[in-house]
Amino acid sequence: MDKLAIQGGHRLCGEIRISGAKNAALPILCAALLSADTLHLDNLPKLQDISTTLTLLGHIGCEMSRDEQGGIDLQAVQLKQLEAPYSLVKTMRASILVLGPMLARWGEARVSLPGGCAIGSRPVDLHIKGLQAMGAEIHIEHGYIHARASRLQGARIVMDTVTVTGTENLMMAATLAEGTTILENAAREPEVTDLAHCLIAMGADIQGVGTDTIIIQGVKRLHGASYPIMPDRIETGTYLVAAVMTQGNVTLTHTRPDTLDVVIDKLRASGALIQATDHHITVQMHQRPESISLRTAPYPAFPTDMQAQFMALNCIANGVGRVTETIFENRFMHVQEMQRLGAQIEVEGNTALVYGVAQLQAATVMATDLRASASLVLAALVAESETTIERIYHIDRGYEGIEEKLNQLGAKVRRIH
Ligand code: UD1
Repeated sequence: MDKLAIQGGHRLCGEIRISGAKNAALPILCAALLSADTLHLDNLPKLQDISTTLTLLGHIGCEMSRDEQGGIDLQAVQLKQLEAPYSLVKTMRASILVLGPMLARWGEARVSLPGGCAIGSRPVDLHIKGLQAMGAEIHIEHGYIHARASRLQGARIVMDTVTVTGTENLMMAATLAEGTTILENAAREPEVTDLAHCLIAMGADIQGVGTDTIIIQGVKRLHGASYPIMPDRIETGTYLVAAVMTQGNVTLTHTRPDTLDVVIDKLRASGALIQATDHHITVQMHQRPESISLRTAPYPAFPTDMQAQFMALNCIANGVGRVTETIFENRFMHVQEMQRLGAQIEVEGNTALVYGVAQLQAATVMATDLRASASLVLAALVAESETTIERIYHIDRGYEGIEEKLNQLGAKVRRIH
């Protein structure tokens, strides 16, 4: 298993390009199942989760050809396998995103239940309830969700929790349903909006994009399209925090500052100077950051996927930061590892109090999930001497070429195979 060895203490300076958004790419790739025509996508990031999704789509019956510049053609003419097997779903929960498209297009799907997850129980009950409301017959048998419907019917669905992949699954299913589907309390994350725009390019009729009420008028078929995947706001946010923590001067290109309002506000409050244009962000930091208090919540509030990175910032900030996680239970797995680096953190329930220290120390630590791993990389960038991060495969699921990008900015990061 690969490890990263990071020599701390180097200011990050320079310019890097932000990759396509993993969490937009995953549902958009699954949208290829909704049409027999070719879907061409650009700005596809090279990530483990993308490879897993392509393997799954190939297994189901999707033909594909990928180029070196981040472009891909996908075409799902015929169904080969009705099943998304446990062996693939267990490595990536987002595999559940094939359920809605398969059911809508072919009238049947068998998708493994995702099972346990490092950051909490993460059920999929709202995906299932929504599809049932659209007329699907669903049985859970032998660890699989088995769904059937001759043609899905439009329905009004009120989701009692805001769910990102739940909204995406139901929105995709509704594009081919008979009649109108209204999704209330829908997720407003930019990745949901990106998927909606891709579906519209494929001929779907969707109103209320970007709001919490999405109205989908079903159509008989969707056609091919060409669509660029949006930039990754979490990758962008992670590099912004890295620049602030190392008191650097970094420009990020090919990004979307408008998807990061709250994150940028918080970094300004910590003392960072940030300039944003349509597709670029430049951040400069000239002093030790001030600590930041935050509470995670659905978009447009503070993203849970940036919580661990801000915890890392608070570890070395001036003062005490209060971090409250409201989306996922058990999303403080990074705390114990940060404590091994000398961080002072007290956890009570879903809140962590982080007492900033002047200097973190190097240690060997273990990555536990994707964003927790990113936070350990950030902490290591400012720790004295060399930190080793084990189980780095988590980070390869979501950050394209992390060591190349950090080294391009002047960090000292080595991958140990
Ligand atoms: C997506 C993102 C993930 C991000 C999360 C929250 C992808 C591939 N992943 O995950 O990076 O951290 O949104 O922004 O886009 N819930 C239920 N029942 C359900 C579904 C969800 O109770 O059927 C609960 C979850 O347990 C959680 C909350 O809803 O407490 C939000 O989860 P959800 O938005 O569904 O997360 P994901 O879509 O899995």
